Amino acid sequence: MTTDISFGRFFLPGPTEVPVDLFDAMRRPVVGHRSAEVSGLIAGLQPQASNLFQTARPIYLSTSSATGMMEAAITNLTRKRALCLSCGSFSHRFFDIAAATGRAADVLEADWGEPNLPEALREALTEGGGAYDLVTVVHSESSTGVLNPLQELSAVVHEFDDVLIAVDTVSSMAAAPILTDDWGLDFVLTGSQKAVALPPGLALAAASERSLARAREVEHRGFYFDLLKFEKNLENSQTPNTPAVSFLFALEHQLARITEEGLDARWARHQAMADRTYAWVDETASRTGAPYRVLAPEGYRSPAVTVIMLPEDRTGPEVAARAKERGFTIAPGYGRLKEGSFRIGHMGEHTMEELEALLSVLDDIV
Ligand SMILES: Cc1ncc(COP(=O)(O)O)c(C=O)c1O
Repeated sequence: MTTDISFGRFFLPGPTEVPVDLFDAMRRPVVGHRSAEVSGLIAGLQPQASNLFQTARPIYLSTSSATGMMEAAITNLTRKRALCLSCGSFSHRFFDIAAATGRAADVLEADWGEPNLPEALREALTEGGGAYDLVTVVHSESSTGVLNPLQELSAVVHEFDDVLIAVDTVSSMAAAPILTDDWGLDFVLTGSQKAVALPPGLALAAASERSLARAREVEHRGFYFDLLKFEKNLENSQTPNTPAVSFLFALEHQLARITEEGLDARWARHQAMADRTYAWVDETASRTGAPYRVLAPEGYRSPAVTVIMLPEDRTGPEVAARAKERGFTIAPGYGRLKEGSFRIGHMGEHTMEELEALLSVLDDIV
């Protein structure tokens, strides 16, 4: 079987395009995961991984997709009741996980396309009267393109005693500033396949000391996603179970690339691609006279994924299919937004030049 790989043309909002040299890194022979070589590898990549998360804490490496670490957040950190902030499909998943694992939880919902706001959170925590001990939130909601005001939400959580904040940064890590320690984020998780630009299959997470203290008080944390096991194993630069060693080779390689680019430069590159996309949407609306618009309101837009609302006579699947005919992969809307919108993932290693090529093809399509 042959696969047609056209680089610079794969703009899904995850998984994203993976630089070829990472596959080369993965071709190294497999080694025993309890070997000094793997411990050395894990120890060696920790400083750069912690820097990516902007934390002094070590980074857990989980052979799972990001949802595994979302489950870890719920099962390790809910002692009493979780309050799950929802503004789209992925943020709602925390609540679904709580239901599936028998944890008490409530959902605080913002309309799809709107952010979760600090005032609503403060009101819910106040009304809860001490019922909640965990707040979950998504940073970049990939189904709507909304970027939640994470620092402000975290500040509200810290107004309340004994409440932790767990954050899904799956589509914002390495694309937007996330100051884990400065913002007081207790549990931050991400996946490999978005702006970090690795193949899908690895999840990364950081847990605060407060989170570990909480996990020690929770009896049934599960087996595979027990955060205390991740912490204990990392003391010897190991993982609880057999890790995807080949991914770790690629991670080491990619962290070096991210470090070389510099976090500020990487965040700025993502913001510039997002800004160019918003400008293109505005230009398209005025050129065609049709109501094309960015779904997320200004000030709350993800630098990694943009959801573009379509006029009534167009559909997301149709736009995505026509882009595909021209060699570009984009996504229709997600879930309930599938028909009425399409999504561009301008993340990972994409460049402005590549984005311009996509936008000029979309010019013809719209
Ligand atoms: C914001 C967000 N959270 C969670 C997930 C789930 O990640 P995974 O499929 O890696 O479990 C995704 C996947 O697209 C996502 O975009």
